[in-house]
Amino acid sequence: MTIPAESPIIDLFKTAGQEHLFEFYDSLTIEQQQEFLKQLSKIENPSKLISTVQKAIKFSSTNSASRSLTQLPPAQTASTLDLDTETKTKWSNLGFEAIAKGEVAVLLMAGGQGTRLGSTDPKGCFNIELPSSKSLFQIQGEKILKIQNLTKEKFGLSEVPIINWYIMTSGPTRPSTEKFFKQNNYFGLKSTQVVFFDQGKIPCFNLDGSKILLEDKDKYCESPDGNGGLYKALQVNGIIDDFVNKGIKHIHMYCVDNSLVKVADPLFLGFAIDNQFELATKVVRKRDANESVGLIVLDDDIKKPCVIEYSEISPELANKTEPNDPNKLFLRAANIVNHYYSVDLLTKMIPKWTSSQEFLPFHIAKKKIPSINPETKQFYKPTEPNGIKLEQFIFDVFPSVELEKFGCMEVERSEEFSPLKNADGAKNDTPTTCRQHYLERGTRWVKEHGGIVANGDVVEVSSLTSYGGEGLEFVKGKQFKNGDVI
Ligand code: UD1
Repeated sequence: MTIPAESPIIDLFKTAGQEHLFEFYDSLTIEQQQEFLKQLSKIENPSKLISTVQKAIKFSSTNSASRSLTQLPPAQTASTLDLDTETKTKWSNLGFEAIAKGEVAVLLMAGGQGTRLGSTDPKGCFNIELPSSKSLFQIQGEKILKIQNLTKEKFGLSEVPIINWYIMTSGPTRPSTEKFFKQNNYFGLKSTQVVFFDQGKIPCFNLDGSKILLEDKDKYCESPDGNGGLYKALQVNGIIDDFVNKGIKHIHMYCVDNSLVKVADPLFLGFAIDNQFELATKVVRKRDANESVGLIVLDDDIKKPCVIEYSEISPELANKTEPNDPNKLFLRAANIVNHYYSVDLLTKMIPKWTSSQEFLPFHIAKKKIPSINPETKQFYKPTEPNGIKLEQFIFDVFPSVELEKFGCMEVERSEEFSPLKNADGAKNDTPTTCRQHYLERGTRWVKEHGGIVANGDVVEVSSLTSYGGEGLEFVKGKQFKNGDVI
């Protein structure tokens, strides 16, 4: 017995020019047919999907060059590099107060696969070989524990305030991420304050975007829908409702790959709260014109904030310098994917963001996608790009926020940003550079507090000891040796 090839789902795909998906259908067992139909039914409107892909291809080829991009106006920006102590204290206090009231949650994007890193494990499990051997997840979890405890002490609370940690994974990273958290006892956090949810997946296509690729005779190829899939994932998994039900008003969102991230940073939260920003972002100064970072800029034509991605900027614009300072890049506010969202904004905008391509278009990336070769009808691993993956970008919603509701805070790179992108051997953003930056930061903090570390030696300061360089008075006059963990 088989399921007839005339089922309504199959018809929809055939009408959309996807007959090739059913070439092997009659040779499948009934279980395989059922599974395949289940996968196919995830796509409600195949014809619409094909036109989405065509739009994405067009969008990618026409993008960016014609836009007039400039710096954000000063009213929307601040820099911790030259912030006066009074403002710093005010913002920091506002952030701590929000944490104390249970109004802050942290949102972690951990759905990407570390393909550039050459690892199949989720990036957060990666051990950058600090003396303590802590993983990125542990470093970040302990930052949450620390800031909760600092808040408790600051206000003399009887109980530790809870910062809920929402972790977005994707199909390939979900099981191993959850297992890792369980094995490590949630790094000392309560298991109930950690919420996992999955981002969506989207089919992969051939290079001209006309055909969905088959991974097997009974399965099409899929990939995660990009970090912009966050918004839909928040909606379909009921996370927005959870924020509202728990009285959460402020969200700090960040990327798993930043080894120096200040999770739930009170200063950044206070910057947004004080200015009534609905969306804010942290940036660092772009290292050089070729660094692979997006830039936070103003689209001068529409007077809205936006990001120009590293893959889309022209060399002329990337290399342009300040008119009065040839040593400074004109566009240098490097996106570190570290955002503040008010829950009010998310509640109001997510239905719009997820329902229209206008806000969240798909970007295309040409990739080598293991699949059934349309000519030989055999599975193969191509050596050249044979297809496209579609991704939404988290920052494409920025232009839908009013300029005066958007804030951008510059922070010191050596304190807050060292991403893990590449395997060792690459020049930047490797396990080695992450480790170096982490240890250099801790050593600097210890020396600033009068601790003695020989020149060339480095020490590790645990997230549990210090959140951002505070609380290290006890090191004064003490000698530390290379590799000590404080
Ligand atoms: C990203 C930014 C870039 C920024 C740079 C800083 C985007 C589109 N680009 O580029 O502007 O300057 O980081 O390091 O945001 N992720 C998912 N699901 C996915 C894909 C990615 O959760 O489907 C997560 C990853 O786990 C990671 C983050 O998104 O935490 C960034 O993704 P990645 O692909 O590494 O971005 P970059 O290309 O480095």
